Amino acid sequence: MTKLWGGRFTKGTDVLVEEFTSSISFDRRLYKEDIAGSIAHARMLAKCGIIAADEAEAIIAGLTDILADIEAGNFSFETALEDIHMNIEKRLTERIGPAGGKLHTARSRNDQVALDTHLYLRKEAVAVGQLLCGLQEAIMETAARFPDAIMPGYTHLQRAQPILFAHHLLAYFFMLGRDFDRLRGVWERADIMPLGAGALAGTTFPIDRKQVADELKFGRLYENSIDAVADRDYMMEFLSFAAILMVHLSRLSEEVILWCSSEFKFVELDDAHCTGSSIMPQKKNPDVAELVRGKTGRVIGHLMALLTTMKGLPLAYNKDMQEDKEGLFDTVDTVKFSLSVYAAMVRGMKVNAPRMLAAADEDFTNATDMADYLVKKGLPFRQAHEVSGKSVRYCLEKDKKLTDLSLAELKEFSPLFEEDILEAIKVETCVAARNSYGGTSPSQVKEALAGGREALKRQ
Ligand code: ARG
Repeated sequence: MTKLWGGRFTKGTDVLVEEFTSSISFDRRLYKEDIAGSIAHARMLAKCGIIAADEAEAIIAGLTDILADIEAGNFSFETALEDIHMNIEKRLTERIGPAGGKLHTARSRNDQVALDTHLYLRKEAVAVGQLLCGLQEAIMETAARFPDAIMPGYTHLQRAQPILFAHHLLAYFFMLGRDFDRLRGVWERADIMPLGAGALAGTTFPIDRKQVADELKFGRLYENSIDAVADRDYMMEFLSFAAILMVHLSRLSEEVILWCSSEFKFVELDDAHCTGSSIMPQKKNPDVAELVRGKTGRVIGHLMALLTTMKGLPLAYNKDMQEDKEGLFDTVDTVKFSLSVYAAMVRGMKVNAPRMLAAADEDFTNATDMADYLVKKGLPFRQAHEVSGKSVRYCLEKDKKLTDLSLAELKEFSPLFEEDILEAIKVETCVAARNSYGGTSPSQVKEALAGGREALKRQ
């Protein structure tokens, strides 16, 4: 097959090299962006008098037909034509004749591929953002469905203080909100228009970059042609966003997996979101949560791969940069799929409130509250901590809970204890008392639910 760049060569390309250097097997995904970018470019060339109006019309009609062919599955992608850009350009010239050869005036594949990936990522950032909001909504709904369920909160995976289950879930809501903010940043950086940079230095033709940007609804232009073709920050930012998002989902996965175990039995997932075992008939496995946790490694890997690819590259374009796409595409697919199944899984989650409450009522999750009680009676916190700690030790020896102790027993540890201590260290009281802004009390959580709903509307 004759190459679009064949002029200076005396020999055909080695087939292995052809296959090795080709990106069509994966960058065909950019066909829509490539055609939209080429149409905007052709229109601008005509407007600036660089090609004739009828040539631009022929180019645009040809590209529109090619788009229809690709969508109908009537386009054969050729490895020998290397990438999506040359596959389309070659077909265009076959269809419309020499006018097709004018499309690449004042353009290089370097700014062309940058334009395509900016368009692609800008579009996908919106799609990912919608799914992210969907998951936030699912979390919000599930939290609101179980407003009173109390569970033990953990530090070091040891029972620490009683909290509302809704409060725990909402922690994920708010971290996903920050992910959304990061994604907005990705969108803003994808919204910069690189075309017109040419290979790296700009072009000798009197082009109008602003026109292309306006047609493709870009907010800004790259100010430096070298930066325009060398930049892959927008992808690195997307992959960073995605890696952090997946880490968040992975942490929730880990908790869901623990909570579903017989050891915890805090939640039950819907049968539709679990799978069975081919040998053990009793099994119901939380595969969705496990697989999201697993796929987190893959997304982090894509981020590491691109950072590593870029770290030693001189300006401007290097073929190494063709390696940016597979990881990017796979990350987009993985994140979108994970967010979709995850939202459904969270929606189907049922809480075993009695079991959670029983767990919160054990292991002295109210010991801090006992100390706080004494502080409110005038004891310095450090001494109150000591008294509560000794009471815990006493209970451990007697195999009792703090709430099992009589007032007489308690008075042995501090004369400040009165009748009201029993009420003060009930699990429900402990939760309700943590009424500081952003705390776990039912009224704070109610505020957080309302605030979260508002934030989601603004997103
Ligand atoms: N397929 C290439 C890529 O994805 C397009 C840009 C190629 N430019 C070049 N001068 N070889 O990076």
